[in-house]
Amino acid sequence: MSARIEALLKRMTLAEKLGQLSMSAAHDAITGPTEAHDLAQAVRQGTVGSLLNLTGRERTRALQRLAVEESRLRIPLLIGLDVLHGYRTLFPIPLAEAGAFDEALWERTAREAAIEAAADGIALTFAPMLDVARDPRWGRIAESPGEDPWLAARYARAKVRGFQGAELAAADAIAACAKHFCAYGAVCAGRDYAPVDVSERTLHEVHLPAFAAAVEAGVASIMPAFVDVAGVPMTAHRRLLRGWLRDEQGFDGVLISDYHAIAELLRHGVAADLAAAATLALKAGVDIDMMSPAYREGLPVALERGHVTMDEIDAAVRRVLTLKERLGLFDDPYRRGAAPEDAGAIARRRRLAREIATRSVVLLKNARAALPLGAAVRRLCVLGPLADAAAEMGGCWAAAGRREASVSLLEGLRAALPQAELRHAAGVAIDGDDRRGIAAAVALCAGADAILLCLGEAAEMSGEAASRACPELPGEQRALAEAVLEQARANDTPVIAILFSGRPLIVPWLAERADALLAAWFPGTEAGHALADLLTGRVSPSGRTPVTWPRAVGQIPIFFGQRPSGRPADANDRYTSRYLDVPNEPLFPFGHGLGYGRFEYSNLRVTPAIVGARDTIRVCVDLANTGAHAAEETVFLFVRHEVARVARPLLELKGYARIALEPGARGTAQLSLPAAELRYPGPDLVPVFEPGAVEILVGPCADRARLLVGGVRLRA
Ligand code: GLC
Repeated sequence: MSARIEALLKRMTLAEKLGQLSMSAAHDAITGPTEAHDLAQAVRQGTVGSLLNLTGRERTRALQRLAVEESRLRIPLLIGLDVLHGYRTLFPIPLAEAGAFDEALWERTAREAAIEAAADGIALTFAPMLDVARDPRWGRIAESPGEDPWLAARYARAKVRGFQGAELAAADAIAACAKHFCAYGAVCAGRDYAPVDVSERTLHEVHLPAFAAAVEAGVASIMPAFVDVAGVPMTAHRRLLRGWLRDEQGFDGVLISDYHAIAELLRHGVAADLAAAATLALKAGVDIDMMSPAYREGLPVALERGHVTMDEIDAAVRRVLTLKERLGLFDDPYRRGAAPEDAGAIARRRRLAREIATRSVVLLKNARAALPLGAAVRRLCVLGPLADAAAEMGGCWAAAGRREASVSLLEGLRAALPQAELRHAAGVAIDGDDRRGIAAAVALCAGADAILLCLGEAAEMSGEAASRACPELPGEQRALAEAVLEQARANDTPVIAILFSGRPLIVPWLAERADALLAAWFPGTEAGHALADLLTGRVSPSGRTPVTWPRAVGQIPIFFGQRPSGRPADANDRYTSRYLDVPNEPLFPFGHGLGYGRFEYSNLRVTPAIVGARDTIRVCVDLANTGAHAAEETVFLFVRHEVARVARPLLELKGYARIALEPGARGTAQLSLPAAELRYPGPDLVPVFEPGAVEILVGPCADRARLLVGGVRLRA
C-alpha cells in the first residue's frame, strides 16, 4: 500500500474517484464514435483521470499541466494511445511483423515505438493485440500475431518487455495493455463485434495462453474485448476477469474497458440501465471506463441502490493510482516529453523500420527465378494501384503515424535502380468499377524486362470494423492483372505480383499465373526501400506467413492446429472429411516463405528418447543451401501426441530456429524444447503431462509432407 495513494483516497470526493475511473478521448486520432466535450474543463475538475487519442508533445504537456497545476488534488493524467506498430515511424503491421519469427526483433520495435511515443508524453499504449486469428474475413487479423497460440505467447512476452522496458517509471517506458481479452478473433462469420462461441477447451488451448504470457511478463494493463463469449460479454465476465486473470494468473494491474464497451452492455441485453452496466463491469474487475458515461453517471446510482460499495470503487481507484505511481507520474508528470528527440534517434528508428520490413515480407512463389531482379534490368513496369501509394503503407493502425512520410514502392525502386527506366501506371483504383486505365497500363508492358504488379487493399480495408465477406482483390484489380498477365505471356515477360493487404487474400488464380508472388502486407514507413532491397536481391526474403492462406473462402476457418477427424480426408474414399469442389489443402500453409537460397534438410536427431517432465528435448537437423544466393531459413519444430486422453491437434508449434547459409554451405539448426511444454489441458482442463509417444516434426512450414519426423516417449 502506498501512503501517498491512501492519503489521496481519503481526500477524494466520489466525483474525483469516478474521474480516475474514466478515460476520455481527444480527437488527434479517431478510433471510435466521438463526442463533443470540454476536455480541459473535465481535467481541471478532476472528472477525467486518463485520456486517449491525444498526440504531440505540446498538447500532452498542456493537458498534463492542467491536471497537476489546476485541479484540486493535482493527480497526473495517464495519457494513452494505440501504438501498435510504431508511433510516428511505422513498422510493418503486427501480422507482418509476426512473420519475422524473431522475438528479439519484436522487442526492439516495441522498445523503439515506446521511446518515440514517450518523447511525446504518451505513457500507455493499447498494445500488444494478442487475439489469435484464424479468419481472414475479420479485419483485425491485421493487428494480430496470427493463428498460433504458442507464437502469440512469445510475441506477447517480447512486446510487453519492449514497451515497458526494464523500469516502468523510466522516461522512455510506457505501460502496455494486452488486448482484447479474450477470443475476439473467433467472432461469428468473421464479422467484427459479432458474438463468440468457443468451447472452454478452445479458450484454454488457443485464446488464453498469450494473455497468461503477458501477465507473466508483467503487463501493466489488460483490455477486455467488446464481444460476448458464450453469452457473457467480456466486459462483464467476472469468471474470466476476476477468476482466471486476477485470481489464477495473479494479474494485479489495471483493466481498461474497450471504447464505450461498458455502456454497450445495454445493447448486449445484460443490463437495463447505466447503473446496472457499471455494476456488472465493476464487479467483474474493470477499473477504467473508456469513453462511456457508465462509471461517472451509473456508479453513483448503483451506490444508492446498494449494488456496489465504496470499497469496490476504492479498490479500482487504488489500482489506477498505483499504475500512475509505478509510471513515475506523481514524481515527475512531465518526465515523458521533457525534450524533443534528436535526428539521430529518428534515423536509427527508420533503419530499424527498414530492417523489420525486409524481414516481414513473404516470398510466396518464385518460378523461373523471376526474382531477384538482375542488375541488368533496364525497363521495369511498375503497375497497379498500390505501386505508388505511400499513404497506404502504414496499414490500419497508424494512429499517430506520419502516413505521408512513408516511402512507396515506386519511390523505393527509383532510389535503388537509378539507371532503370521505370514505367508506372495505376491502371485501376484500389476499389471501384472503372476499368478505363487498363489499356494504358497494358501498353507499357511492351519491351519491358519485368513487370511488377502491385495489388491489394487500402489500409482501411482491414483493422477494426473492416470485415470482408469476400477477402479477394477489391474493385477491378483482377481485370487489370489478367490483362497484364495476358500481355506478359505473349511477350514472355516475367510478372512479379506484390500483394499489399491486412489479411491473406483469396487469390489462387494469381498464385497460379504470376511468376513470383510476394505478401508485403503493409510494410510501414520504409516500405519502398525494404521492398527494393528484396526485389533487387540486396537482401534475401526470409519472412514466413504467420497465418494459413485459404484457397477459397469456404475453407475458413483453416489453420494447421486442427484436431484430427475420425474420417480424415482420403481422395479415394467418399466418406471422408473433404469438399467436393475444393481441395482441403490451403493455398499456402502456415510458415511458408521462400528465400533466394534453396535449403535441403537431413539427419534429424532427437534426444533423449525417453523424457520426463523436467527434461529438455534436444533437436538437431542438418541443412544445406544448394541455391545460388545466401539466405536465411526458419526451421519450425512441431509436435504431435499420437494418443492422449483428449484428441490433440495434428500439429502443435513448439519452436523455431533461424539459420543463415552462404551458397553451397552446410549447417545444423539446434532447437531445445522443455518437456514441460508438452503439457496440455487434460479432460478437466487441468494441465497434464501424459506419458506416451510424441512425434517431433521439423521443417520449413506446417505441411506434414515437408517435415522430417522423429519422436520421444514421455514417461510419468
Ligand atoms: C478501439 C479498439 C481498441 C483500441 C481502443 C482505443 O475501439 O477496439 O483496440 O485500443 O478502441 O482506441
